Amino acid sequence: MNENFYITTPIYYVNDKPHIGHAYTTILADVLSRYQRSLGFDTFFLTGTDEHGQKVEKAAQKRNVEPLAHCDETVVRFQELWKRLGITNDFFIRTTFDFHKEVVRKILQDLYDRGEIYRAEYTGWYCVGCERFFTEKDLVEGKCPDCGREVSAIQESNYFFRMSKYRDWLVDYIKSHPDFILPSFRANETLGFLRQELGDLCISRPKSRLAWGIELPFDSDYVCYVWFDALINYISGVGYLQDDKEFARRWPASCHLIGKDILTTHSVYWPTMLKAIGLPMPKTIFAHGWWLTGNAKMSKSAGNVVDPMAMIDRAGVDAFRYFLLSEMSPGSDANFSEESFISRYNSDLANDLGNLLSRVSKMILRSGGTVPAPEKFEDVDNELLAIAKSAVSAMADNLAQYKPDQGIDAAMGVVRAGNRYLEKCAPWQLAKTGDTARLEAVLYTAAEALRHVAVLLEPVMPEKMAELAKVLGYEDGKICAIAELADKISDLAGRKVSDTAALFPRIIVEEEKAPAAAKPEKKEKKEKKSEKPAEPVGLISIDDFFKTKLKTAKIVAAERVPDAKKLLKLQLEVGSESRQIVSGIAESYAPEDLIGKTIVIVSNLQKATIRGVESSGMLLAAGKGDKIRLVTLDGDIASGVDVG
Ligand code: ME8
Ligand code: MG
Repeated sequence: MNENFYITTPIYYVNDKPHIGHAYTTILADVLSRYQRSLGFDTFFLTGTDEHGQKVEKAAQKRNVEPLAHCDETVVRFQELWKRLGITNDFFIRTTFDFHKEVVRKILQDLYDRGEIYRAEYTGWYCVGCERFFTEKDLVEGKCPDCGREVSAIQESNYFFRMSKYRDWLVDYIKSHPDFILPSFRANETLGFLRQELGDLCISRPKSRLAWGIELPFDSDYVCYVWFDALINYISGVGYLQDDKEFARRWPASCHLIGKDILTTHSVYWPTMLKAIGLPMPKTIFAHGWWLTGNAKMSKSAGNVVDPMAMIDRAGVDAFRYFLLSEMSPGSDANFSEESFISRYNSDLANDLGNLLSRVSKMILRSGGTVPAPEKFEDVDNELLAIAKSAVSAMADNLAQYKPDQGIDAAMGVVRAGNRYLEKCAPWQLAKTGDTARLEAVLYTAAEALRHVAVLLEPVMPEKMAELAKVLGYEDGKICAIAELADKISDLAGRKVSDTAALFPRIIVEEEKAPAAAKPEKKEKKEKKSEKPAEPVGLISIDDFFKTKLKTAKIVAAERVPDAKKLLKLQLEVGSESRQIVSGIAESYAPEDLIGKTIVIVSNLQKATIRGVESSGMLLAAGKGDKIRLVTLDGDIASGVDVG
């Protein structure tokens, strides 16, 4: 195994105000970094800001300040938020740093000298919002394929990177390195993209159109395309062409953590750039899903952003970190709502974890104040200890697969088991009856479960878990490294427990104060049911219904059907089977928004060919035109499950 761990986040557009989408990627990278550090890995965590390009230039012009001055002012929003969120990045890179610009220029010169970059006449389409060029065939109905806005035709002389010549190599590389692009359906998406012809990449912008960028070393009339500049941060930030030793220590990166919005730049542009430069590939590019609000992607332009600061003020930094990481399965999108935040906080943290700690600490304080050192354990004690031990490996396995939500769930499983254990063993009874030997075993075992939880959740909730550690008698708030949990004998017995205010005070919601209103309604429903309505016509029997085989299906890939405005071609996972369905939902859903969704299909429909594309089955949806909504399921469920 690689002893070094180097993880990056995207460098965010400095112009934007950070929202919970940016916070998610950065917190996830932070949790993975803290975890790897705790395992003893030589860890490096890089984040930063992307500061060149048209959006910054325009925003600065509008405010009548120099672009760099504008960046200096806005970068603080990210730096302050990361500080507030306890982010432990080792470096914060800004693409306006001199050393970064030097590295970009050296790379450009070298590629130019070796004929990897050439000059040519170019006609293309440009989307100002996305700062991206598109060819004719990239456009969707003449508009930007990413954001749907108008594009403008541009003809000019530009410099191009010979990306096309690496297509076959890249396809082979992706196929032979299953960990390269994760989750694996994102690798399939990239391979789908590479099935079309791959053009060369325009890497210059004439200064007449855009001056805010890194000047090309071989032509001072041009600046470098902002993505070409930005991607290089991943190597300039760890010493490339500046400190060979440091660079050798860090590169190749273990993980570029990104959102699915920037998959192509990372899975196609960046690998081909690295190949041309002559550097090895990063081990993994992991693209997580989107945070949505009200089912739309959270973004500044959509105006539906959630301000992290407001959430932190409400429940604290650690609760916010916990919520984001436990709520999203990184392969899929997640919906943010204040209700889900409060309900998870109250049930997981205030109830389960908070209660376990307060019960255990209070009982220990009442019976002497130090963690007992029992001599004899019973099966029920050993069972809880085994659950705690197995959570250590579950956390390791899940984090290695980028499933922090499931790792957290394993740790919370220990908490839930701990509470059940207390109910069962009833230490308060043992105290009353004077069964000291049993009481000691129970209190020790429950405290030991908590000790495991504190260590396992420390990367997620560093401050709160330090507080928990202090309650258990670890005065400096530090219990042990994760690596030591499994190997070392516990040093818990004999520690002096201290009293604690509630670690996670419950958040009181307005409705909780008046819960009575719901009851009569229920009764009314019941009464209605017992009435016998007149039998309507057209009813079918249950057997008729079950002729239609409805199944759950997971969308793993989606693309438009060429020349068909309304049609999308979906690749579905239905249990162990895969199938393709063509559906008329293209006006309501962008292909990328569908990936990861679990829907309901009619699985026993005869095959059909729609616009020359085979379709096996039909999906369930309501509405028409651009107002179609898919039938989805309320919560996690596997694909291939019968519906009915
Ligand atoms: O794309 N849900 O920067 P950016 C989840 N500068 N994650 C989200 C999100 C959401 N709704 N919105 C943003 C850029 N993110 C380029 C990157 S890298 C060499 C250059 C997160 O400010 C997610 O990580 O638009 C996404 O990929 C990133 O912010 C985009 O940040
Ligand atoms: Mg963006």
